[in-house]
Amino acid sequence: MRGIKIIGTGMYIPETVADNDWFSTILDTNDEWIYSRTGIRRRHISADKPNYYMACQAAKAAVADSGIDPAEIDLVLAATCSPDFFYPAMSCLVQNDVGAVNAAAFDISSACTGFINALDTASRFLLDSDYRNILIVASERLAPHCDYTDRTASILFGDGAGAAVVTRSDKPMWSYLSAKGDPFRALYCKVDQSRTNCPLIKEDSEMSKFIDNEAKTHFMQMNGKAVYKFAVEAMETAVNKVLERAKLSKDDIDLYIPHQANARIIESAVKNLGLPEDKVYVNLEDHGNTSSACIPTALAELRAQHRIAEGMTVCMVGFGAGLTSGAIVYNQ
Ligand code: COA
Repeated sequence: MRGIKIIGTGMYIPETVADNDWFSTILDTNDEWIYSRTGIRRRHISADKPNYYMACQAAKAAVADSGIDPAEIDLVLAATCSPDFFYPAMSCLVQNDVGAVNAAAFDISSACTGFINALDTASRFLLDSDYRNILIVASERLAPHCDYTDRTASILFGDGAGAAVVTRSDKPMWSYLSAKGDPFRALYCKVDQSRTNCPLIKEDSEMSKFIDNEAKTHFMQMNGKAVYKFAVEAMETAVNKVLERAKLSKDDIDLYIPHQANARIIESAVKNLGLPEDKVYVNLEDHGNTSSACIPTALAELRAQHRIAEGMTVCMVGFGAGLTSGAIVYNQ
């Protein structure tokens, strides 16, 4: 039987705070608009540290919390859509820093659904191989992706990292993963390859299917309304599908941890699904949307508050660029 137990969590949130009032000093916006439309008051920016630094801090905290020796980690999975390097994979930097000397390592890129996809992958490694302990870290430094002249998108995102150590369990888990490559243009960030010095390289005409002429930049491009609509539907579908697979009712779940994109997205989906609000964890007021880091950061906060107890049934649900979505139900 496929099952996981989370035996340690950790998180790292950078010190620099960008609150809504700060945004009103650089953009035509204000706290009232941002909070009422998104539920976000502040987010944190990694002003002077790379993404892998945040990932390593969260990972080391998770390993310390788990109590295992780093040499007992068999695999390091890193979820990120904002790596510092094309290569090496961020997971290799984490593997080295935590001292996971016996671990393999690779990255998973599926934006805000990254942690869900990584946890699902981990559960399959734990089931089908002799791997015992897997370290998952999800870390994002989105500030360099955001266009701080664009008041629609930049206000949503923050930087941070969350990590979890997972081990095999004889209690069941279920997952539902989905990808919808069209409309991929709703949310993307193009790799900047303008610095090539290869004389043979011409302007990449194939890229025109992604970008319009005004958006030929390496900043994140987002159709807010399209993503909003997708997100509400994706969250509902993923929760319904995973509960169907688990043969569980909505009331059987003790705790829901949704991706923290926008409080209105969560509220709409929660209302449509008929979930009890007090079972749904929301922390985006302080962090904004940290993409793949949202769910493991929430897990770390909940564990630190002793709100995830042995035997609880937890449902995590993510959605984001791709467009991708997914949900996991597991018994702690
Ligand atoms: N401050 C003040 N006004 C703003 C603003 C801001 N930060 N951002 C947009 N506006 C303005 C718009 O320019 C528009 O003005 P207009 O009516 O004069 O044209 C007005 O507010 C309404 O804009 P609209 O785009 O309809 O707002 P919205 O209610 O759809 O909210 C988002 C915009 C981006 C907050 C919302 O669409 C959203 O959250 N989408 C999902 C994005 C997301 O979660 N992405 C990540 C997914 S993982």
